[in-house]
Amino acid sequence: MNPGPCLVEDDSEAFARTAAGLAERALLGAIEARGLASVAVAGGTTPRDMHRAWAVSTKLPWGIIDLFFGDERCVPPEDPQSNYRAVLEDFLTQLPLPGPKIHRIRGEEVDRDRAARRFASELPDRLDLLILGMGPDGHTASLFPGDNRALEQKQARAVAVEAVKPPTERITITPPVITSARNVLVLARGEDKAKAVNEARHGLWDPIAWPAQLARGGTFLLDSAAARLEPKS
Ligand code: 6PG
Repeated sequence: MNPGPCLVEDDSEAFARTAAGLAERALLGAIEARGLASVAVAGGTTPRDMHRAWAVSTKLPWGIIDLFFGDERCVPPEDPQSNYRAVLEDFLTQLPLPGPKIHRIRGEEVDRDRAARRFASELPDRLDLLILGMGPDGHTASLFPGDNRALEQKQARAVAVEAVKPPTERITITPPVITSARNVLVLARGEDKAKAVNEARHGLWDPIAWPAQLARGGTFLLDSAAARLEPKS
């Protein structure tokens, strides 16, 4: 698979605006084609400026958009580590009504496998847009290197995992959800991710070692530090 487009923005406001614009283009395209849209947002810190940009100004008709999560930490929704809480704070509570239909991963449930199955049952066959972050080790969502059980899933679309990045108990989408998404947008900033970005986009195919390779065909929005190893065109 050839790598998808790579865009570089160093200014954080420009990064957020570019990310929001790419996401809006994908979702408006889905709405034009099918009259509705679905998006899964990423956890972590990198997407938060984009989320805040959405709170300030967005052209999206959120009332016909279904909003999902790429992963969730198994903590209560009000926990500061919750990806859902971050999205609520950053933009969901500030959107004009009607807002999106939110499909929360109920990570707080004791039966995490049941929570994963419930979330998976709500996912569409193909997401219109999947937004992902990635770690310096090449993980994406909560698919971590060497987690064969999660990375070899062909049927299950969400599973409970033990992650190496705290909090360790998480629920994540699986590779079929990534590879079936109509549009994938990967957001990564920082020198510590340069090697993982290069492996994800250009490395020998080995998604067990580098799970972010599953998003190789997507659009990568990076800063110049994370793009340091990109081949010079
Ligand atoms: C999570 C994320 C995770 C994140 C990466 C990058 O819940 O932690 O899903 O995959 O996207 O670890 O995190 P940063 O954006 O904070 O670097």
